Amino acid sequence: MNILAIESSCDETSVAVIRNGTEILSNVVASSTLMHEKWGGIVPEVAAREQLESIIPVLTEALSSLSHQPSASSYQTIIKNSIDAIAITVGPGLIGSLLIGIETAKAIAFVTEKPIIPVNHVLAHMYANFLNSRQLSAVSSQTENSLGNNKIVFPAISLVVSGGHTELFLMKNKKDISWLGGTIDDAAGEAFDKSARLLGFGHGGGLAIQKAAKEAIGRQSSAIRLPRPIIHDDTLNFSFSGLKTAVMREWKNSTNHNEQMISAFSYEIQEAITDVLVKKTLKAVQVHNAQSILISGGVASNLRLREKMNEAISHQPSARLAESKRAISFYSPPIEFCTDNAAYIGSYAYFRGTPVDWHEINAIPDLSVEV
Ligand code: KG4
Ligand code: ZN
Repeated sequence: MNILAIESSCDETSVAVIRNGTEILSNVVASSTLMHEKWGGIVPEVAAREQLESIIPVLTEALSSLSHQPSASSYQTIIKNSIDAIAITVGPGLIGSLLIGIETAKAIAFVTEKPIIPVNHVLAHMYANFLNSRQLSAVSSQTENSLGNNKIVFPAISLVVSGGHTELFLMKNKKDISWLGGTIDDAAGEAFDKSARLLGFGHGGGLAIQKAAKEAIGRQSSAIRLPRPIIHDDTLNFSFSGLKTAVMREWKNSTNHNEQMISAFSYEIQEAITDVLVKKTLKAVQVHNAQSILISGGVASNLRLREKMNEAISHQPSARLAESKRAISFYSPPIEFCTDNAAYIGSYAYFRGTPVDWHEINAIPDLSVEV
């Protein structure tokens, strides 16, 4: 079964064709991230306008790779002959951005009479762990635990950690998902991005913090100490707004904002965020006797987070994990499939989606993730 998947919830425009939920036949991504840099954050109107500019070129490029002689008039034929269903992100996301993808998907479904499947963007992120393909195997050596797909043993704990969300889910299988907890204020990616801006980096600063933090490693540990909010409470929730405030306070109190200081702050910010993410994920593993951990979303590309997850499962630090005497497996998608793209939208639609009448497809900017 081939699914044509469309993603346009924020500042990435992406179209993919996915076979049987795992194989990537094509995946094209255009991003307007750099355009937002000068504003210090995403401007919804700019993002929507860029979606409109990009959607048709991205769609035709994704379809072109399915046919050897593509021409504008034959795209409809390509879809008719090679595609079984259309998958579309309906939320959560920015209304203007969502609408561009949704109206495109509805038009395609109407003209080609193909079924259309609405997709929740946040839940779909975790399906990046089920993708597999010849293209992917070329990059798999860069990541420790990617390409889990069929090897993943359930139940699994799935941490979705992105710019707008930090959520923990229990996955009993590829279809049965339940929400366990999430952030009560800022998302982890937001904490990275806002801290990065304060330290003088541009938009999308998680990666910048990761790079600067690396410079601090090897130097004497700095005096900067940031809180790990609600790390020891009984819930599976997160809170990062206090951390952001603490970063601001410490930064104001510190003098000499040179490169060394920026690296020291970056190091401690990354340690604080990843400590909380790892601790809460491990807690969820214990509570639900899970056998695997899956991470996904933009922040899941953080190398320190991956390193700490691997360490945590190998040391089995808690008594209950040790008691169970079984290994916990850790899976993370290749870096390029952590940030927004349509490949995992297509995978989710295959494993968990249900087609609806195209009239019923609407943008839901605040679509709940608490399934
Ligand atoms: O999933 P995503 O592309 O968009 C949302 O759906 O939000 O995630 C974007 C987020 C941003 O906050 C960005 O700073 C963060 O992912 N990010 C990282 C890294 N790469 C991207 N955070 C930490 N370390 C990274 N290497
Ligand atoms: Zn996302």
